[in-house]
Amino acid sequence: MSVGRHPATRFRRTKRLDGMRRLVAETQLSKDDLIWPMFVREGNNDETQVPSMPGVSRLTIDRIVAQAERAANLGIPAVCLFPYTETELKTEACEEAWSPDNLSNRATRAIKEAVPEMVVMTDVALDPYNINGHDGIVRDGIILNDESVEALVKMALAQADAGADILGPSDMMDGRIGAMRNALESAGHTDTAILSYAAKYASAFYGPFRDAVGATGLLVGDKKTYQMNPANSDEALRLVERDLAEGADMVMVKPGMPYLDICRRVKDAFGAPTFAYQVSGEFAMIKAAAQNGWLDGDKTMIESLLAFKRAGCDGVLTYFAPDVAEALNSA
Ligand code: PBG
Repeated sequence: MSVGRHPATRFRRTKRLDGMRRLVAETQLSKDDLIWPMFVREGNNDETQVPSMPGVSRLTIDRIVAQAERAANLGIPAVCLFPYTETELKTEACEEAWSPDNLSNRATRAIKEAVPEMVVMTDVALDPYNINGHDGIVRDGIILNDESVEALVKMALAQADAGADILGPSDMMDGRIGAMRNALESAGHTDTAILSYAAKYASAFYGPFRDAVGATGLLVGDKKTYQMNPANSDEALRLVERDLAEGADMVMVKPGMPYLDICRRVKDAFGAPTFAYQVSGEFAMIKAAAQNGWLDGDKTMIESLLAFKRAGCDGVLTYFAPDVAEALNSA
C-alpha cells in the first residue's frame, strides 16, 4: 500500500459530503447481521424487567412470540432463546435441560408455529438448569467434561426435536461439537446448524446475563477451568479450528468489543461464518452511560455494532437488535 504525499493526497476530499463518505465506506451494518437474544420465563402475558439490563425483560412465551413477530416485521433474521428456570427445577443432574417441555423448547415450538421463517437459535449449556450455576455437571467441586458432553447431547437433541434451527453450544466442554454433530446425524437432524461458542472467554462482562437467567447467587466458584483466559489469542484459533473440524457450521467470539482482535484473526484464518456476542455487560455499559447523559446511546450503539463488521464478523448477537433494526429502517 502506498500513500501519496500532501497535497497530492488529501484524505479530507472524500470526507467533505455525506454522499462521498457513503461511497467510500468500507463496511455496512445491516439488519441482516442481527441475532436478537431473548429471555423466556413461565407465565402468561407478563414480563419482568432485568434491572441490570435497562429495556430488557424476561418474557412469557406468548410475549416472546409477539416479539418474534416484531423481529420478523423489523427484518431481523434470527432470535436466540435463554430460559429463566425456576429454582425448584434446578438440580445437580440438570434433567430439565433435556425435557422436551422445558421453557426453551416450548418457546421454540411456539415461535416456529407462529413465525416459521424466523430462525430460532437455542443455547446448549447446563447453567440455567444447574443448582450450582455451572455450564457442566459438577461432582466434588470438579466440572466433569465427558459426563457434561453426554448431558449436552441429550439437550441438543431435545432442542432439535423442538424445531431449533441453530444450536448454540455455549458450554466450552471439550468434544461437544463432534458428539452433538454425530447424534444429530444419527437422529436424522441433518440440517440443524451449530453455531459454536468456540472462543468464549471467562469474562466479567457476563454479570447482567447471570442476573437475567437467575444464576447470580448460585454460581459456585468461577468458569476458568472451561472458558478461555482473556490473555490468550492463539488458543482461540485452535479452538475454532477444532470446532469447525468437529462439525460446527458457524463460530462465535464472546464477549465482543474487548475481543475484536480475536474476531479479525478468526475471520482471516478460516473464512468461516464468524459471529460475535455483544454481551450483557457491554450492553449495560452503553445503556448506563446513556441514561446518565454521558454518551449518546443511539450513536454509540450503531458505532459499536459497525465495529464488529469492520473486524470481520458476519453478524452479531446483540440485545440492541430491535433498536438497531428500527434505527436502520428509519435511516
Ligand atoms: C452460559 C452463557 C453465558 C452467556 C451466554 N451463555 C454466561 C456465562 O458463560 O456465564 C452470557 C451472555 C451475556 O452476557 O450476554 N452458558
